[in-house]
Amino acid sequence: MTQGKRERVLVTGGAGYVGHVLVPRLLSDGYEVVVYDSMFFGNRIEPAPGLTLIEADIRDTARFKAALDGVDSVLHLACISNDPSFELDEGLSTSINYDCFEPLVVAAKTAGVKRFVYCSSSSVYGVSNAPEVTEDHALVPLTLYNKYKGMCEPLLWKHQAPGFTCVTIRPATLCGYSPRCRLDLTVNILTNHAVNRGKITVFGGLQKRPNLHIEDMVDAYLLMLRAPAEKISGETFNIGYENYTVMEIAEMVKKVVEQEIPNRPNIDIERTETNDNRSYHINSDKIFRVLGFRPKRSIEDAVRDLCRAFAAGKLPNSMDDESYFNVRTIKTRNAA
Ligand SMILES: NC(=O)c1ccc[n+]([C@@H]2O[C@H](COP(=O)([O-])OP(=O)(O)OC[C@H]3O[C@@H](n4cnc5c(N)ncnc54)[C@H](O)[C@@H]3O)[C@@H](O)[C@H]2O)c1
Repeated sequence: MTQGKRERVLVTGGAGYVGHVLVPRLLSDGYEVVVYDSMFFGNRIEPAPGLTLIEADIRDTARFKAALDGVDSVLHLACISNDPSFELDEGLSTSINYDCFEPLVVAAKTAGVKRFVYCSSSSVYGVSNAPEVTEDHALVPLTLYNKYKGMCEPLLWKHQAPGFTCVTIRPATLCGYSPRCRLDLTVNILTNHAVNRGKITVFGGLQKRPNLHIEDMVDAYLLMLRAPAEKISGETFNIGYENYTVMEIAEMVKKVVEQEIPNRPNIDIERTETNDNRSYHINSDKIFRVLGFRPKRSIEDAVRDLCRAFAAGKLPNSMDDESYFNVRTIKTRNAA
């Protein structure tokens, strides 16, 4: 970053799985950071110079406006972030993932924020037979989570203006270690089961699922903050790396876990039928063409990082502790 005033970035959902890797990187890259999060899953981000932690709800627009003082850019990650958790309480989830979205954008624009990065999802495309799903592919959402993720996008474009750069990213399913780890994501689930049960169950197996290492996701956020406005204003970018079938991913997990974990020399892969045959192949050439971005870490790297975290005792009680599984945590929270 250039000398002078430090750029101030507000991250909604900054205490989540991605936030716990993103926020320390932003701080070490010289940004001031405001984490704005209701802390559904607690918070393990250490206090640090330049960091402000605000425990608040994105639906509280007054509180959000107050948090925007001096903020240059907003990275909007907060949401109920997968299909089953969304469906636990559709009304509540819609209020978080959709109803408050436009008020957040308007508040940011009014406060003089210069850049708004919206994190959508590559799941907005639903199932497609297209060999390469590019950003102009129709959105055919299969779940409410996908549907509302996609419906926020045009709301953002309404407010795109000179001096208020709006950009949407559609990341693939993430993988890898975070201090607030999610073990409900494909690669992370398979690795947890391989390490802790010595066995992986694959449902179906032929479905293609695009993946992205969490550290590459963080690189992409940093890029969105630095990229020249004229290259990203009003643009949507897929961000994925490796499109493999679930069975291929299971084979990779097996190989890496057998190498990394001494008491797991022989992981079993069991295949069962599924009715969830969602399969898609996203194409991420645009972000390379426009911004020169290519992910650098593989699925195997993510599995290796997780194995090392397990071996170091950083993921205790990983089959049972509900904080690793969004749906279980939110179910308990809603019942309380
Ligand atoms: N993890 C993935 O594989 C993946 C893939 C594509 C897109 N994304 C998107 O990336 C973003 C981050 O995902 P994640 O995996 O870190 O999710 P996460 O569930 O770990 O984090 C979401 C955060 O949002 C916060 N939050 C939820 N409702 C809130 C509210 N009403 N007010 C304030 N904060 C609230 C939660 O407390 C949590 O810390 C999400 O927008 C998600 O849809 C994730």
